[in-house]
Amino acid sequence: MRKFLRFDELDSTNAYAKRNCSLIADQTIIVAKTQTAGRGRMTRSWLSQPGGLYFSVVLKPQKIDFLPNLTQLMALSVCQTLQQLGVNAWLKWPNDVLAGGKKICGILSEAVTHAAGFEALVLGVGINVRQADLSAAGQPATSLAMLGVQTDEDTVLDAVLAQFFDGYTTVLEKGFSALSALYLKHFPYIGKEVEIRHGAAPVRGIVETISPNGELVLNTPQGKTIISIGDMCV
Ligand code: BTN
Repeated sequence: MRKFLRFDELDSTNAYAKRNCSLIADQTIIVAKTQTAGRGRMTRSWLSQPGGLYFSVVLKPQKIDFLPNLTQLMALSVCQTLQQLGVNAWLKWPNDVLAGGKKICGILSEAVTHAAGFEALVLGVGINVRQADLSAAGQPATSLAMLGVQTDEDTVLDAVLAQFFDGYTTVLEKGFSALSALYLKHFPYIGKEVEIRHGAAPVRGIVETISPNGELVLNTPQGKTIISIGDMCV
């Protein structure tokens, strides 16, 4: 049975989940109307004003072979939900969702570990829903409202969670192979030249595919390169 913890304001739903992890049951969803210190990937911040959807799903699975693929399942679930709402959304590896060439959703997944090993995966999701102005986001960003879709955060949350938990058990068992056909259908970058930024030296190449593990496979002047982390820039 899924549980919800709802807040008007938190520093960060991910930070709350990590702080209180031992007290939080498997499959609990932490939702905040605003965040004062919303966090993004690569130590960036995440603008978290009212009108956005900010939540973290705490997962404590027995089987942990395919944890990174749960993040990709979440990205796919958001993408499919936005499409159901009439938005032409697509996936940008590893787990961004774009619409109209701008970011509409970001996902920050963090593992909680202790001396005895893995305790939980915290999947933090930010979706721009009713915001009218995202000029402070620090990157080109859009919202459902800016794309002409009138809805609310709870409707989007329910739809995303339904999609996510529909695929959850299968991805836990089978990893990216359970997702790859659908993921690739919503990933329009095959054959495109991209740059992956992570650390000092960016890597440029043509996207060949996504590997059976969910990594990006690039053809570079140095040969085939498999990338497991980074920011993809077109
Ligand atoms: C990204 O950089 O694209 C990831 C952004 C993730 C933002 C969400 S909002 C809910 C959860 N709490 C956080 O502090 N971050 C994630």
